[in-house]
Amino acid sequence: MDNVTVLSHPLIQHKITLLRDKRTGSKEFRELVEEIAMLMGFEAMRDLPLENIEIETPITTCTAKVLSGRKLALVPILRAGLGMVNGILALVPSAKVGHIGLYRDEKTLEPHEYYCKLPKPIDERLIIVLDPMLATGGSATAAIDFVKQHGGKNIKFMCIISAPEGIRRLSEAHPDVPIYTGCLDEKLNQNGYIVPGLGDAGDRIFGTK
Ligand code: PRP
Ligand code: URA
Repeated sequence: MDNVTVLSHPLIQHKITLLRDKRTGSKEFRELVEEIAMLMGFEAMRDLPLENIEIETPITTCTAKVLSGRKLALVPILRAGLGMVNGILALVPSAKVGHIGLYRDEKTLEPHEYYCKLPKPIDERLIIVLDPMLATGGSATAAIDFVKQHGGKNIKFMCIISAPEGIRRLSEAHPDVPIYTGCLDEKLNQNGYIVPGLGDAGDRIFGTK
């Protein structure tokens, strides 16, 4: 699918393997999620618009490039998406951060919203929705529905691990949204977990299980 970019850089692949390992504890897990988000951010922000400004170097004046337009909006899906924010802020410290709170009902696997706050004017920003896991795709699809209802137009989705089911659902619901994923895994199990995956990302980041 041409809206999907799998980021096969060796550094990303190496760090995802460490994330998957069940022996990796919360501290290291959090650090890895942040580092992977930063590495993925390079690719997802490859087409950020630039403009020319005049500056003076110690040697001469010259025309040089800076990022143009409204600041980027990062929108993590709570909770696990929070783990990716600082990695991208390290690259673009001026980005604004919105939040969408969703949890997946453990029986129906359908997402439920509990919070939504987005930076204004959302319609003039490039918005990167962040969540380490794209499983059934219900959460990402609902989050992007909310962003669009609030006026968001230029949206990308970034995850660390995805399942084919989630890629399909999100692409069908939002064909205009490019998806960046670190790995495309094999399938979902009967509980809606990605196989081989890494388990529950929120629990592993926050040490809640
Ligand atoms: C996890 C994950 C995604 C969602 C993915 O969150 O962080 O948001 O599941 O699954 P889906 O593609 O099937 O919707 P969860 O609902 O467990 O909430 P949490 O981040 O608060 O743990
Ligand atoms: N959410 C997770 O955190 N992990 C999965 O494998 C699926 C959904």
